[in-house]
Amino acid sequence: MPRSRRGAGRILTSVCPRVRSDHHKDLRHSELPQGGERPERRSVMSKITSQQVFDREDKYGAHNYHSLPVALCKGEGVYVWDVEGKRYLDFLSAYSAVNQGHCHPKILAALNEQASKLTLCSRAFYSDALGEYQQMMSGLFGYQRLLPMNTGVEGGETACKLARRWGYDKKGIAENKAKIIFAEGNFWGRTLAAVSSSTDKDSYGGFGPFMPGFGLVPYNDLAALEAALKDPDVCAFMVEPIQGEAGVVVPHAGYLKGVRELCTRYNVLWIADEVQTGLGRTGKLLAVNHEEARPDIVILGKALSGGVYPVSAVLADDDIMLCVKPGQHGSTYGGNPLACRVATAALRVLLDEKLTENAERMGLLLRAELNTLPKDVVTLVRGKGLLNAIVIGQGIDAWEVCLKLRDNGLLAKPTHGDIIRLAPPLVINEAQIREAVAIIKSTIMSFTRK
Ligand SMILES: Cc1ncc(COP(=O)(O)O)c(C=O)c1O
Repeated sequence: MPRSRRGAGRILTSVCPRVRSDHHKDLRHSELPQGGERPERRSVMSKITSQQVFDREDKYGAHNYHSLPVALCKGEGVYVWDVEGKRYLDFLSAYSAVNQGHCHPKILAALNEQASKLTLCSRAFYSDALGEYQQMMSGLFGYQRLLPMNTGVEGGETACKLARRWGYDKKGIAENKAKIIFAEGNFWGRTLAAVSSSTDKDSYGGFGPFMPGFGLVPYNDLAALEAALKDPDVCAFMVEPIQGEAGVVVPHAGYLKGVRELCTRYNVLWIADEVQTGLGRTGKLLAVNHEEARPDIVILGKALSGGVYPVSAVLADDDIMLCVKPGQHGSTYGGNPLACRVATAALRVLLDEKLTENAERMGLLLRAELNTLPKDVVTLVRGKGLLNAIVIGQGIDAWEVCLKLRDNGLLAKPTHGDIIRLAPPLVINEAQIREAVAIIKSTIMSFTRK
């Protein structure tokens, strides 16, 4: 599919200061403004344009993303700016990584302070940062141990490896027979293991052969799960408490509690993938807290660093975590001092600024407002906290809606043709929610049949 590209001629509502000085370096002489201009004017004029940004990536980059055509250069709180200086409300938050808002000063201060001390020493040695971070996480989430990784998918991979080891060492599953069950519609990343469990053809198609020992059950179906867990070779069930990439699919009340009960009954580990739903996003610190259900393994990522640095983590108790011995799992960057300090600061911000509580309040307001749209235009509003989606009716193309939302100053991304995810940073306030709602309403209504 050809990539949509946006033309020039944007309205300049506010200027991105850093761009003025930096981007002239990228331009050829012929693109520089000619004589007679005032210096300030020249520096504004000489910056790279959005179109140049698109074209350069298009030419030199792999085409593995269908990015919305907007070229960003700055972020602060709930806002981001493009290279022409236009400001947008960010309603994607880098797929829920920027819960604490863009460039939070306290997280950046921690990054900068640690960056000039020690960034990486590998796990070949101890650092003074890792244990402090692990202790804080253990206290906060109530698990005995933390295994640090970098990306969300590495967290998922780690959880699967832990579960298999536990299956062999503790459950007594015969060698190479352990099975992990996933829910249809799951998304936990792009590695071969992750796509092996995927039901999305775009994710797995053409990448086989796939990981053996993976099984699937429908999401939000406890009877199907029970049937699968009866197999004594099953060591784990891995599931998102709300399926994010599938379009913010919220299971029925009681599902998570039911998962807990079944996993306990059949001696199967419950792995909760909280990479997207965790850390306040849904109005609770973990989404499983909505049902006070405690998984055996929790995977965190994304907002664990407030969008500043790739940090992921797997939480579990001794019985599971200590199945993995030295030399059996790790990562050069996993648990590095910079990541630990950044994550510690990001968690403090989350707690100090009561972002979880804010997500709950702002989410209620957002959904209440969106629910006032005509039901044939927005057929469904769903979500928890500030992880929300709307389903667009009347055959209106969600991609086209997102392009127009962008023109009107709000960034969101469509999934599955008719769904738009709405997930702003958790620092958003009421006035900003109302500003966003006004944009969303007028934009969507402009597509309706007259
Ligand atoms: C629920 C869930 N798990 C795992 C991942 C993978 O995280 P990463 O892209 O950091 O590998 C994602 C990414 O969107 C996710 O939504």
